[in-house]
Amino acid sequence: MRILLGDNEIREGVRRMGREIQAFYGQRPLTVIGVMTGSVMFLADLLRELAMPLRVGVIQARSYRDRTAGKLVMNSEFLPQIAGRDILIVDDIFDTGQTLLELTEQIRLLKPKSVRLAVLLTKVGRQQVGQQPDHVGFEIPNDFVVGYGLDYRDAFRHLPYIAILEEPDRLAAQRMSVEVEREAEVEVAR
Ligand code: IMP
Ligand code: MG
Repeated sequence: MRILLGDNEIREGVRRMGREIQAFYGQRPLTVIGVMTGSVMFLADLLRELAMPLRVGVIQARSYRDRTAGKLVMNSEFLPQIAGRDILIVDDIFDTGQTLLELTEQIRLLKPKSVRLAVLLTKVGRQQVGQQPDHVGFEIPNDFVVGYGLDYRDAFRHLPYIAILEEPDRLAAQRMSVEVEREAEVEVAR
């Protein structure tokens, strides 16, 4: 694994984003919606940089891209009221942008006063949609990264830094998920 952004660098980036967001909204009440699970760490750190009246909710978005071509399934059970409010969607990474475009469209159906998008990472040259995030922490090269919320097969989210996933890490994570599945099968068979 090769560290791309260390914890100090991340902390500075999140502070800078916090200042930017604070400057934009001032003391207007804000509703922050974190996209689970990738945004957990970023969400928790960013919230601590904001000082306006604030509400927080989470949403889960899962795309079954391989099976049903880009269909986004949204679990909005934990959403606070959206109608009439200023909404800031917070996510870990803007890659092609497809997920966050669809998510923004679905949030807009709930008639917010405004919707903006804050992402920690964006990948250079990958964007396929017209929409751009309003607040970006870091532009990174087109490598697969993990840590600080980002996962590969649900592993590595807890790392306090962001690292480029290399082949041995990929194999280790694959072995781990195969083992977990096997154990689960044994449990069910009992
Ligand atoms: P998009 O719809 O192409 O923007 O992809 C969005 C989703 O793909 C993100 O929310 C992540 O869950 C995942 N993703 C894209 N790139 C990476 C990466 O480098 N590491 C981990 N997850 C990624
Ligand atoms: Mg995600």
